[in-house]
Amino acid sequence: SKSGSGGGNPRDFIAKMKEGKKRLVIFYGSQTGTAEEYAIRIAKEAKSKFGLASLVCDPEEYDFDNLDQLPEDSAVFFVMATYGEGEPTDNAVELCQKLSDESFEFSNGEHKLPGLKYVVFGLGNKTYEHYNLISRNVDRDLANMGGVRIGERGEGDDDKSMEEDYLEWKDPMWEAFAKAMNVEEGQGGESPDFAVSEVEDHPAEKVYLGELSARALTRSRGIHDAKNPYPAPIAAAKELFSDAADRNCVHIELNIEGSGITYQHGDHVGVWPSNAEVEVNRLLLALGLYDKKDAVINIESLDPALAKVPFPVPTTYGTVLRHYIDISALVGRQILGVLSKYAPSPEAEAILKTLNTNKEEYNTIVHNGCLKLGEVLQVAAGNDIHAVPTKENTSTWSIPFDIIVSSIPRLQPRYYSISSSPKLHANSIHVTCVVLKYESINNEKVKTRWVYGVGSNMLLNLKSAANGEEIAINTEDSEPSKVIAPKYAIEGPRGLYRQETVYKVPVHVRRSTFRLPTNPKSPVIMIGPGTGVAPFRGFIQERVAMARRTIEKNGPEGLADWGSIRLYFGSRTSTTDYLYKDEWPEYAKELYGKFTMRCAFSREPPYKPDGGKIYVQDLIWEDHEEIADAILTGKGYVYICGDAKSMSKAVEETLCRILGEAKGGSAEVEGAAELKLLKERSRLLLDVWS
Ligand code: 2AM
Repeated sequence: SKSGSGGGNPRDFIAKMKEGKKRLVIFYGSQTGTAEEYAIRIAKEAKSKFGLASLVCDPEEYDFDNLDQLPEDSAVFFVMATYGEGEPTDNAVELCQKLSDESFEFSNGEHKLPGLKYVVFGLGNKTYEHYNLISRNVDRDLANMGGVRIGERGEGDDDKSMEEDYLEWKDPMWEAFAKAMNVEEGQGGESPDFAVSEVEDHPAEKVYLGELSARALTRSRGIHDAKNPYPAPIAAAKELFSDAADRNCVHIELNIEGSGITYQHGDHVGVWPSNAEVEVNRLLLALGLYDKKDAVINIESLDPALAKVPFPVPTTYGTVLRHYIDISALVGRQILGVLSKYAPSPEAEAILKTLNTNKEEYNTIVHNGCLKLGEVLQVAAGNDIHAVPTKENTSTWSIPFDIIVSSIPRLQPRYYSISSSPKLHANSIHVTCVVLKYESINNEKVKTRWVYGVGSNMLLNLKSAANGEEIAINTEDSEPSKVIAPKYAIEGPRGLYRQETVYKVPVHVRRSTFRLPTNPKSPVIMIGPGTGVAPFRGFIQERVAMARRTIEKNGPEGLADWGSIRLYFGSRTSTTDYLYKDEWPEYAKELYGKFTMRCAFSREPPYKPDGGKIYVQDLIWEDHEEIADAILTGKGYVYICGDAKSMSKAVEETLCRILGEAKGGSAEVEGAAELKLLKERSRLLLDVWS
């Protein structure tokens, strides 16, 4: 009822629950949307299993002062991601503070929540140090205040097994939930989230054809951020690898002039990808929508509190699959059960059911085979996924489109460390992106084939297009080593991706804390092999700009008291993948000896005495005296960027050895303590990914 919500305090979640007859409230701490998706899934399951309605809440939009007023027949869920170095997501900062702050009083005048029934599911990443810290803290705080947890605390590992961790956690949790809430399964029933309708005679200029924000067609101005990305024209683009027949690394300069977008060195740029042509077509064919791909559709939410339409409408079937939902990701195990009901044959239904219920079978066929949604439908129906999909070789499933919209998450931006400094390039953002391509594991149903990363391959397409080069596309008879990329529809509608000869990419900037010390006297040590060097190109440019200003005033002597700037880079060889090889000597000239760079070329001599490869960590060990001095005496700053799994771990271990030795102790004790201190003082900063 509109009048009801109009009168009350919109930040009062208890009032909202009462008004909507909801017994559950689900708070999510989400940065990129994953925790929010899980929150929505939990809400849907509560509804379909028990017929219980939930209020799904962004904690930023509510007050928690009356959490103690939650009715006895209700429960509260916390779906909390841990972000960066053990921090809450931006939208959960206040919630976490209030829960842990013993001086914070709820409406009962105390910091107590006696008997509060709660459920916790955490999202974390095991490659980071503070795995799932936030969900653990929330659990601890609620228990301390007298809350009673329902079931176990769930913990998902984003590095490996988020989906499996969730699936394993949820069933026992729901069992415990049924007991604690005194409800029974079977009271619910599947109800659709969305109603999809085809609309005729809709004015073409009001149909969203890939625009990422509703604002794009309503009012043209507005700030550009994650909710309203800016289609940035590509100012320049080039290939950085010289062995580009086999692998690619793209350098792209995005023109942000006049967009209002600003950035700092060390920030990230979010690039909004679209899906490759072949996957869009495959799914259109499997859904029987190929001939209707341009039909205009409207999508309405049947329960706006539970499920918002995740992209602007009206739109078209083809646009949804191409630009709005993530049909290129590995298809999840859970939705296969839902989709099996719409199979074209009993055999196909049985195969999907097996993949849904049998974890091992799912792992072998879907996970190892890297199957996307359209591919899994083809495999189940006995179609050949290695062929270019056509009407003849693709079976049609009768899956309602609303099910696709509610079960496939929205396409998310891909984040890259910006490789330029605004002090040298105020009007452009540079991206250094290695193109992802790997082979799937052979199994009885799916032969080994190439799998392509969505964001990086789109950038590769755009680079080729911007330079008027032909794009080598994947066809059945292409020789695997010659296949470079799948094709994207980068022509795009309405100048969204192309305007005459200029290609565009939708982007926004995400702020980071990965920054140089403001004082140039502080020594700086940067370790970034591979594309890990990206932010450091920005860092060096930042220092070059500062040097120019200093020299203009005081001459080169102005740099005399600057700290040393060391860069450790690594690549396979000095001729194939030595990124920005020609630029470093130029920067060095302008920094008058303050900048030194060392490279570990792992696949060319010199090798270690035992024949092993030399990596960046070996070089920093060789320089241990200077490095210890820069850190301990010079109060220097250390930056690591690149692979989170093996490289950054190995580099941290080596730093422990260096510091342990300098302190006259061991790596494990004194070294580790010193490293911890560095981290706490934000003098060791990481920008790593897995
Ligand atoms: P490799 O591929 O020859 O093993 C950029 O990818 C560079 O990082 C390459 O030279 C690569 O070497 C190297 N590299 C791979 N694993 C690494 C690790 N664990 N630590 C440091 N460098 C590594």
